[in-house]
Amino acid sequence: MNDRIGIIMAGGKGTRLYPLTKVVNKHLLPVHDKPMIYYSLSTLIRLGHKTIYLISTKESISLFKKLLGNGKQYNIKLHYKVQYKPKGIAHCFFLLQKEIRNKKTTLILGDNLFISNFENLTSSIHKQGCTLICTTVREPQHYGVVTLKQNKIIKIEEKPKKPTSNLIATGLYFYDEQLTTLIKKLKPSRRGEYEITSLNKIYQKNKQCFHYNLSSADHWYDLGQISDLDDCSTFLKIYQQKRELNIGQLI
Ligand code: G1P
Repeated sequence: MNDRIGIIMAGGKGTRLYPLTKVVNKHLLPVHDKPMIYYSLSTLIRLGHKTIYLISTKESISLFKKLLGNGKQYNIKLHYKVQYKPKGIAHCFFLLQKEIRNKKTTLILGDNLFISNFENLTSSIHKQGCTLICTTVREPQHYGVVTLKQNKIIKIEEKPKKPTSNLIATGLYFYDEQLTTLIKKLKPSRRGEYEITSLNKIYQKNKQCFHYNLSSADHWYDLGQISDLDDCSTFLKIYQQKRELNIGQLI
């Protein structure tokens, strides 16, 4: 994983969390005992990434710099990039075209929290194509829904009204070197954003979109809504106390 470029998307308006996010970036909100961003950053670090780019809005980028610095204290190189307009998750690859050319790339959404066996996960990443980290959920219609046939992905849909599966793609994605070529095929969606699901669909059409399912021993949270923040904070408090762990620790 050392040679992979890591990217954290930490922009957006966080409107579903208003008024909490009216003046504070969502990814800086507390989740139990740490700012939310610690959890996604620590996941990339645990996965072995040494060069990481954090992308956020013009207003928030200086706060992230103040909080996390250049990464030296965590034994990584941490760089920052401004996304001036909310042009979607996959827009990050346009912003970093030069930096990721001919490199493998990992993208994590800054509001995703993973507790997992990262060694198992790492060994399941396909060298070619893209690998989506998937899990089953009760309400798949809020996510990128993945449909399988004979354990192969045959369909990926972003927030479908009538999901054909309860398997969804979490906010952790692994891409090969074709990425900077394939993004040229991307067009903005109806809401004017470069959707991550549109990119994954391109890989799927090329029969190069693979999946790894989190196990029942793993934990995953998308922290986009107030109930998720509450649930996750309570979960972490109990989980950490019981097991004497420190989830999201950066060093
Ligand atoms: C995004 C993606 C979606 C994915 C989800 C995971 O949705 O578009 O495909 O399942 O992250 O957290 P968002 O949470 O930005 O609405």
